[in-house]
Amino acid sequence: MTDRNTPIVIPLIDQRLASLPIPASAFSTAIRLDANDLLVDTRQRPLRDLRISVTDRCNFRCNYCMPKEIFDKDYAYLPHSDLLSFEEITRMAKVFVAHGVQKIRLTGGEPLLRKNIERLIEQLSELRTLDGRPLDLTLTTNGSLLARKAHALKAAGLQRVTVSLDGLDDAVFRSMNDVDFPVSAVLAGIEAAQAAGLGPIKINMVVKRGTNEHEILPMARRFMGSGIVLRFIEYMDVGATNGWRMNEVLPSAEVVKLIHAELPLVQLDPTQPGETAERWGFANAAGQHDPAKGEIGVISSVTQAFCGDCNRARLSTEGKLFLCLFAAQGYDLRSIIRANDSDTDLSAAITHIWQGRTDRYSELRSALAPDAGAGVRRVEMSYIGG
Ligand code: GTP
Ligand code: 5AD
Ligand code: SF4
Ligand code: SF4
Repeated sequence: MTDRNTPIVIPLIDQRLASLPIPASAFSTAIRLDANDLLVDTRQRPLRDLRISVTDRCNFRCNYCMPKEIFDKDYAYLPHSDLLSFEEITRMAKVFVAHGVQKIRLTGGEPLLRKNIERLIEQLSELRTLDGRPLDLTLTTNGSLLARKAHALKAAGLQRVTVSLDGLDDAVFRSMNDVDFPVSAVLAGIEAAQAAGLGPIKINMVVKRGTNEHEILPMARRFMGSGIVLRFIEYMDVGATNGWRMNEVLPSAEVVKLIHAELPLVQLDPTQPGETAERWGFANAAGQHDPAKGEIGVISSVTQAFCGDCNRARLSTEGKLFLCLFAAQGYDLRSIIRANDSDTDLSAAITHIWQGRTDRYSELRSALAPDAGAGVRRVEMSYIGG
């Protein structure tokens, strides 16, 4: 029998090499719009949010994402020639925006490791939504380079950032990033982002039972009233290398209960359909939300799947389109744009692929045995981005 506390490391099968076929008929697909004139999938979900991974590399080795044993010096990262250029990314983004995308998030790996990322941000910030508004343009970072780059990112047109931070205790933080990176440098990065006006800033804390649950309250106390929205994320069974087990997931309901006992909370309405986080506001003495104290969020993809209105598409570093964070394969859009000067085929392919989308992994997994998702073949989150 397997010891429940011993991570099971399974061999990495390289899911990046294969891609899903796009039939020739896709290029003559007629667009079907819903009553609101939106391109929707088979479950009537529009395409609103595009996450673009700009590198599969990271300078951290968070155990839940890029465990050191797998992502070592011999790991085969994508060669530079495979990456989409900034011009190719912008060209793709433009077509996605024409299909209803309103938010673009740059991810990695660690996106700030991509050289001259500010140039890409400048190009993307020029795009306008179908109704003529600027995009919600944001970026997820581990914060290690933020103190140095915050100002330039803002100047390039980035609106806001989300910083990953799993605890305030230096020893806990160093052991979770597994490269001995000090928490003080990330906190300095967050301050620099605030000073640069990259708000509203969000902080994402992945909670692992037995690893950093004692950091929940210190984090809640620290960011209450700061204008920063702290979100607690259930440890997920993404990828195939992190040795995920259900017994390390701390359900969001427990996080809310723990905080509420010391800092009373009231549930808030969603701000928009398809949100990942459930919102909770800090309450005043009368039990009402106190906006000055701010809010937290909980992201519960394990205990309360939110696939029902999932409007997120993901573009990998070398231009494959993934319809779900838990997908095993994506559609190769890079070969389409490299073969065509016009965007007609790209546009038709996106329409065809999104119209056929059925994905709802987390919903389906909740119906299975608790550990059923462990070790299944899937792409890594460091490759398609959070
Ligand atoms: P905001 O627009 O700032 O609210 O961003 P967001 O919550 O849409 O995106 P973010 O990348 O900050 O998401 C936070 C975390 O939620 C990610 O790091 C993932 O752990 C998880 N997550 C995001 N999108 C999905 C999704 O589509 N499915 C699942 N299962 N988890 C997701
Ligand atoms: N579970 C939950 N979130 C994860 N992330 C990476 N791996 C996991 C996982 N196994 C998310 C974190 C991090 C972002 C880059 O990806 O939110 O902040
Ligand atoms: Fe890097 Fe973010 Fe993955 Fe940690 S979670 S290894 S910081 S990409
Ligand atoms: Fe969307 Fe897949 Fe996440 Fe469900 S599991 S919310 S379909 S990305």
